[in-house]
Parts: sequence; C-alpha cells; structure tokens
Amino acid sequence: MIYYHNNKPFIEGVSIEEIARSHVTPFYIYSQNKIEDTFKKLKRTLNAEIFYAVKANSNQAIIKLMATLGAGADVVSVGELERAIVAGVNPKKIIFEGIGKTNKDISFAISKNIRLINVESIDELQRINSIAFEQNKIIDIGIRLNPNIDGHTIDKISTGKKTDKFGIDTEKLADIFQVLETTKNVNLIGISCHVGSQLFNINVFSEIFKKMKKNAQLFIDKGHSIKHVDLGGGLGVTYQQNEKVLKLELVKSEMDKCFENVAYQLSFEPGRYLVANAGILVTSIITIKDNGGINFLITDAGMHSLIRPALYRAHHDLEAVDKSNNELIAYTVAGPICESSDIFDKDISLPKQKVGNLLIIKDTGAYGKVMASNYNSRGLPAEILVRNNAFSQIHKPLNSQELISQDTIPEWLD
Ligand code: LLP
Repeated sequence: MIYYHNNKPFIEGVSIEEIARSHVTPFYIYSQNKIEDTFKKLKRTLNAEIFYAVKANSNQAIIKLMATLGAGADVVSVGELERAIVAGVNPKKIIFEGIGKTNKDISFAISKNIRLINVESIDELQRINSIAFEQNKIIDIGIRLNPNIDGHTIDKISTGKKTDKFGIDTEKLADIFQVLETTKNVNLIGISCHVGSQLFNINVFSEIFKKMKKNAQLFIDKGHSIKHVDLGGGLGVTYQQNEKVLKLELVKSEMDKCFENVAYQLSFEPGRYLVANAGILVTSIITIKDNGGINFLITDAGMHSLIRPALYRAHHDLEAVDKSNNELIAYTVAGPICESSDIFDKDISLPKQKVGNLLIIKDTGAYGKVMASNYNSRGLPAEILVRNNAFSQIHKPLNSQELISQDTIPEWLD
C-alpha cells in the first residue's frame, strides 16, 4: 500500500510526510481505495452477504464507506449499533450480537427494527421473548452456535471451542428446541457461528461449513424456517511478508461443495480482512538510547495507541521513513508508556535513525484505534482517511483539557 516517490513514502497520491506536517503524531492513516478493492474482491469471490464486523474499526467514515459498498453491519454493543445507524447502515442490514446483552440493550435493539438479534444463551432467548411480549412484538432472531471447532489460531482470539464463552453449545440443541416451543414472541430465522480470528486453515473452514449445514438442517427438521446461515468472520490476513495468504477461492469452493442447493442465504461477518492491511500507524521517534547493549528507539506511539503487540505479542512490520543512512542497526522499538510490555518489536534491523524521524507501523487498520486508550493520560491518535490525492481527518481526539474535564471532584474533596 505504501510506495516511495523520490525517497518519500506515499499512500495513494498523498505524502505521509505532508500529513505529518499538519497532524500531531501518532496518527492512523487508512486508504479508502485499498478498503474498496478488498471489499469488492471479497464480495466477488464469496458471493455472499457481508456484515462488516464494526468492532475492527468503528470510525463513522469507515462504517459509512462499508455501507456505501453494500455491506451490512455486525455489531456487539448498543454503542456499535448506534454508530452503524448514525453512519447510515440500513437497520435491516444490521445484526446485533454479543455475549452480554442487558434487557435495556435488547429493548433498544428491538426499537431499531434491525435484521435480527443473535441469541447467545437460553436465558437471553427467554429475556428477548419476554421483552418482545411486553412490547407486543414478534422479533426476528438468530441463534449463535458454538460449534466446538478449534480454529488453530492464537488462544486469545479463539471463540468457537466449547470452552470459549461464546454461543450456545450445539450439544444443547434439544434444550433450545424445547424453549423455542414456548417463546412465541420470537421468530427464528437464522443460525450463526464465529470460530475465531485469523483463520487460514482451509480444513477449519470446511469443518465450519459442514457443521453449520448439519445444524441448519436440524433446525429445519424441527419446523424452523431458516433463511440465513452466517458463517462468521475470522478470514485471516497476513502481517508479515512471506506469510501464507488465505486463498478466498478455496474458501468459496469449500462453500459451494458443502452448500449445494440449500434454500437459505449464506453470509459472513469479517472485520479484520476488510481493514487491517489498509491502515498504518505513523509515529515519531522521541528518543534513542542504549540500555545494556540494547538500542532502544522510543516512539510517541505505544501500547496506548496500538495494544496488539503488548496484549497478544502480535507482530506488525515496522518501517523507517528515513532510509538515508547506510548503516543498519538492530533496534528495539518501544512506546513511551511506563510498562515493560510496551514494546512493538525487538532487534529489528533499520537504517540508523535520528530523533524526530517518522516510523510506520503497518497493517494496523483493524483492532488498532478501537483498542487504544488514554493510559498514562496520553492522547488518543487521530485518524485520517486518504482517497486518491486527498486526505481528511476522520477522528479528532479529545485534548487533555477535554479529557480532564470528564472527571468530577466530589465536593468533600474541595
Ligand atoms: N464476528 C464475531 C462474533 C466476532 O466476535 C468477531 C471478532 C468477528 C465477527 C470479526 O472477526 P475478524 O473477521 O475481525 O477476525 N482484538 C483481536 C481480535 C478480536 C476479535 C473478536 N471478535 C485482535 O486484535 O486480533
């Protein structure tokens, strides 16, 4: 996505250094064309309905862009639901899921006339039914199943094993069928699953498809009119060169093999796949120091701007903007937060750097800004969208005064 012109990095037609002249680092940049191309490729290849998992990047401009491209939205909180509606997603293209929905959340979702609420427990099913009954409505629902599949991904982002907290255990189907006989204010129209993030193994997709087909049939046999089978998100993206790429065509051929002649529609709810590789985080080097023989580059981005390396030991390629020095140095790149886990990468070889230089942290369009925090009372990064030769700031973070003003000192401390 980044290319160099006269040794200066560009995204689409925009110079990254030019953005850095008018915006305080660290900031995220997203490429609209890259997102559009990825979406179109995904849609064309899978030929299924796409519900964008808003959690990956919930900026209003990004959700709006997805809606414009024809995506629906997969939301997991009232906040995300409001975001999707305000960004202009048609409520009939919104799926509301999430492992912990309060009665208030459920009432809110019902009031918005969305496509469906995905139920994650028998208790929740009963609560949705009671709320719908009180409101004298019949609500479309889906059941999120836990198909007990190992996605062969990192443990912290696995969601589809029996021991994960998500979905309803497929061994409990008999209980669901029984409860559904009494819950007359819900109308079951779909089933869904999400086995985890960063799925690459085609056998995993094949197992998901087969189990979902089998389960859909069990519901149909019980007289439920299943219109949608949602196959989840998790489509893997590469974070390093030479990593194996997920072949969407293979996913599609497994899908076709499994779901020949079924009467229901298939859908996916990807987040990362659509945005991860379309984003970068730009940061400045605050200071350079040698501690115990380790060359530390301390940047103004840290675990408060991008927590994935600290939280999951996730890898993001780092690139120096200034490559003019021929001397290569093994640097450990760390953020400014007072925690030893605030490290982006260790011993990476970069051309010798100076204080003030820019570094680019790549593939940060998903689960970057959305997981950022104000830890150490540091600011959140701005977000910038680039399209052709233009760029626009799509998120302006609160300044320190605005942040401080969110706190209230009780009168007894005054
Ligand atoms: N659907 C459901 C029900 C999900 O829980 C998720 C992600 C998705 C779809 C989208 O998954 P994706 O296509 O983006 O892999 N913060 C972690 C990722 C957590 C994903 C949680 N659920 C990370 O930075 O890797």
